[in-house]
Amino acid sequence: MQKPVVVFGGTGFLGRAVVAELAARGRSVRVAARSPETAAFPDLPGDSVERCAVDVRDEDGVAAAVAGAAAVVNAVSLYVESADLDFDAIHVGGAERVARLAAAADVGQLVHISGIGVDTQSPSRYVRARALGEDAVRAAFPSATALRPSVIFGPDDHFLSALDGITRLPVIPLFGDGATHLQPVHVEDVALAVEASLVQPEAAGCAFELGGAEILSYRDILLTILRHRRRRRLLLPVPFMVWRGIARVSARLGNPPITEDQVVLMSADNVVSDGAATLTDLGIAPRGLRAQLPACLL
Ligand SMILES: NC(=O)c1ccc[n+]([C@@H]2O[C@H](COP(=O)([O-])OP(=O)(O)OC[C@H]3O[C@@H](n4cnc5c(N)ncnc54)[C@H](OP(=O)(O)O)[C@@H]3O)[C@@H](O)[C@H]2O)c1
Repeated sequence: MQKPVVVFGGTGFLGRAVVAELAARGRSVRVAARSPETAAFPDLPGDSVERCAVDVRDEDGVAAAVAGAAAVVNAVSLYVESADLDFDAIHVGGAERVARLAAAADVGQLVHISGIGVDTQSPSRYVRARALGEDAVRAAFPSATALRPSVIFGPDDHFLSALDGITRLPVIPLFGDGATHLQPVHVEDVALAVEASLVQPEAAGCAFELGGAEILSYRDILLTILRHRRRRRLLLPVPFMVWRGIARVSARLGNPPITEDQVVLMSADNVVSDGAATLTDLGIAPRGLRAQLPACLL
């Protein structure tokens, strides 16, 4: 029997694309998440995907999930902290546990999904946790491949769907003057990068920054969606100071529409840095957001 690739977070937006890509290549896949039955894979043969209920905070559960695996992919995510769940538990502790127990189980490869701009000195708790998580993964599993995407888009994503909703407002508030640059990367290109990391020995121990074919400002992305939807709206610059105030006040009310971490993220460009290894180094020609938008926002 073929040893499976375990995809932690295999029910999430990126995780589902990774599972589909790996299974389409004939790999056997184990989806590991707290509620692994929530994702359907109607196009895949039923026997190509097994499910494993696990929380990355649970030592025994993670050990059981990685047992007998050929490789492990960690695509677990947490974007907003709550009273009983913080970034360190998932992005540092959880990431380290997956890496350490995968190494202990003699798993051949580990692909760790992180993000562009990881920085232990960032004012964002999220970005700091992602950076510390990468360090912990590297210490526990030195040959792990780190993939750092810019914002990921595709059909049924979080990003374009949210902006589509915002462009229904009569007036669209911008972060600052909307000049922050992003390099949106297609979800299937990130999934291809995971597969490439598993087959290319040169990827072991390396980090790749994954950006799409186009660098666009936040304002440009909104204008592209407005054109696609044939909507005309006023774009209103809103200083970052005001956003920080909104985030601070709404955090006290629970279920905030925006967090301080998200404001920090939107205040710095999120693009592939000079000299970084990229999708091209993995043999993948990235798609661009504008050409793909009609297929994503139906
Ligand atoms: N989406 C983007 O634009 C973007 C950009 C850059 C980097 N990334 C990175 O890409 C990765 C995937 O992001 P995504 O947007 O696909 O996330 P997502 O859609 O929110 O999916 C998160 C996945 O993690 C699982 N999960 C959450 N908490 C867990 C826990 N405690 N134990 C086990 N599984 C848990 C969820 O399943 P359960 O809830 O059932 O456990 C789900 O399968 C993350 O590392 C993220 O930071 C994403």
